[in-house]
Amino acid sequence: MLVIIKKNYEEMSSEAAKIIADRIRKKPNLVLGLATGSTPLGLYKELIRMNKEEGLDFSKITTFNLDEYVGLPPSHDQSYHYFMYENFLNHINIDKRFTHIPQGMAKDIDMFCEWYEQRIKEIGGIDIQILGIGANGHIAFNEPGSSLGSRTRIKTLTEKTRKDNARFFKKMNEVPRYAITMGVGTVMDSKEILLLANGESKADAIRAAVEGPVTAMCPASVVQMHREVFVLLDKKAASKLKGDYVDTWEAKIFS
Ligand code: PGA
Repeated sequence: MLVIIKKNYEEMSSEAAKIIADRIRKKPNLVLGLATGSTPLGLYKELIRMNKEEGLDFSKITTFNLDEYVGLPPSHDQSYHYFMYENFLNHINIDKRFTHIPQGMAKDIDMFCEWYEQRIKEIGGIDIQILGIGANGHIAFNEPGSSLGSRTRIKTLTEKTRKDNARFFKKMNEVPRYAITMGVGTVMDSKEILLLANGESKADAIRAAVEGPVTAMCPASVVQMHREVFVLLDKKAASKLKGDYVDTWEAKIFS
């Protein structure tokens, strides 16, 4: 596990973009795992800039998103479809046929989840998965208590998560009750993982994930079992770590 601590959010984002761009240049048909949330927005912005100004080419890239709310159509401004197109996919030269986001409107959700897993496998697996982390240690919609071996499936949102998200909806009863999410096991099958976190509100979760025991009560802690993981943080998110994370990573990361 490589823990990389940058001064602030901007530096964290540009380092993350450098890693992704490096992987795309080495493998133009990279399979990229994407995440929603506020954390990767700076990374997406920088990748858009690299696409426009430096010709970073996404034309052969395939993407898979981690999760989506059940019951929200892609046109809903709180759907993760909408988020991804607005904040990233509409602004790069990607072939939309190669982008995958769980279908929250699928009629048969179990069948869809099986198809999603199958599709990832057929394409040869995810090369690098971008991850955020919840303040409670969740990854995607895998809340504490999720099986560390879980696969793509439907999950019930906790009341806490629904309340946290209520501000984005007109009424509480509009807040989705379910989501489709890649499982912890699905994420762990990615060849590389890039976990990003910034801000003080993530410091406890990062301490638990990086230095705590591996436990389903902090699903992000499972990354300790992965062979190729980068934990890229700003100083605030790293502020509760006790370990000494020396700067040996640059040679390794771009090797
Ligand atoms: P955030 O969400 O990036 O908006 O903090 C991360 C997460 O909940 O996984």
